[in-house]
Amino acid sequence: MSAPPRTAALPRERVDLRCGFGPLTLPHPILAASGCFAYGQQFADFMDLRRLAGLSTKGISPKPRFGNPLPRICETASGMINSIGLENVGAEAFLRDKLPYLSAAGLSVWVNFFGEDFDGYVECARLLDAGRGHGIDVLEMNISCPNIKKGGIEFGTVPEVAHRLTKACVAATSLPIVVKLTPNVSDVVAMAQAVAEAGAAGVSLINTITAMAIDVRTRRPRIATTYGGLSGPAIKPVALRMVHQVHRALPQLPICGMGGILSGEDALEFIMAGASCVQVGTANFARPDASLRVLDELHALMAELGIATVAEVVGCVQPIEPETPWNPAAASAPDAEAGKR
Ligand SMILES: Cc1cc2nc3c(=O)[nH]c(=O)nc-3n(C[C@H](O)[C@H](O)[C@H](O)COP(=O)(O)O)c2cc1C
Repeated sequence: MSAPPRTAALPRERVDLRCGFGPLTLPHPILAASGCFAYGQQFADFMDLRRLAGLSTKGISPKPRFGNPLPRICETASGMINSIGLENVGAEAFLRDKLPYLSAAGLSVWVNFFGEDFDGYVECARLLDAGRGHGIDVLEMNISCPNIKKGGIEFGTVPEVAHRLTKACVAATSLPIVVKLTPNVSDVVAMAQAVAEAGAAGVSLINTITAMAIDVRTRRPRIATTYGGLSGPAIKPVALRMVHQVHRALPQLPICGMGGILSGEDALEFIMAGASCVQVGTANFARPDASLRVLDELHALMAELGIATVAEVVGCVQPIEPETPWNPAAASAPDAEAGKR
């Protein structure tokens, strides 16, 4: 195995946390993830929102939605399953009632959005375009939610459909569109390629993994829709693998990584796999200031490892140099005997 790079530690003030994500420059790589940070304002009592690089709002649809029946959340080993069903206030109320606060807070606002069908997506992108110049920096298009009946997951699993949808939404707004992909596919690279070719400014990876939990006493699923989306530390290795695959195949495509990030070290793993920035999701349910703890830990860890800038480690992970396995047939008899002892 090759030795890890050894770089002298740096003082914290020598670490530059700024990072680029396509057309954006962020003060650091940590954002709060969609659906885990509401519309931001609710968290202001627990933390200084301005310390976040940005947040992704709860998914917004053209019209308000009430979401799925209860129970729609349950805890699992190292994670949780949710089936909220994309409850939200709708585009008009978001622009009127939620955006002004976020705009004044001065952080990068990514509006996560979706439609209930093809035209609904395009309409939502068009409606949210009114927020350009009023605080919205990015439209994060969720083509990956397993929790709505019409469309939703299908848009995220067929590359040609994702391409057509992305192209239509890109044409409906001059805001950059970052497409949030589902891990519930066998070839995530094909999906990333399809949306990149359609004009996506980047991709967010990953949304939740379709999952189930059963209450053996009642013999019923633990959530009302039977299946929901698994998130939290349980999905981190899958998310890392997908970020790495997409970055290797499409190194120019900006990636926002997420999935089970709890610590600065988790965030650095995503960056080394190829993410330019990351979002913290489920961790916010345990601690509302989780993102800021991740930020502080990332800062300290970069200083300890002598990493001066984020850019120098984006996608830096190298394969392990294969060691030749011990092969008794190729070895001379005495050596082979020695190897067995
Ligand atoms: C309760 C809940 C609601 C979510 N709602 C949305 C949503 O509206 N839109 C979206 O794109 N992702 C949504 N997500 C997915 C998260 O943004 C994130 O991609 C996923 O949970 C993985 O990150 P994590 O393990 O850090 O939570 C939601 C996740 C949870 C747990």
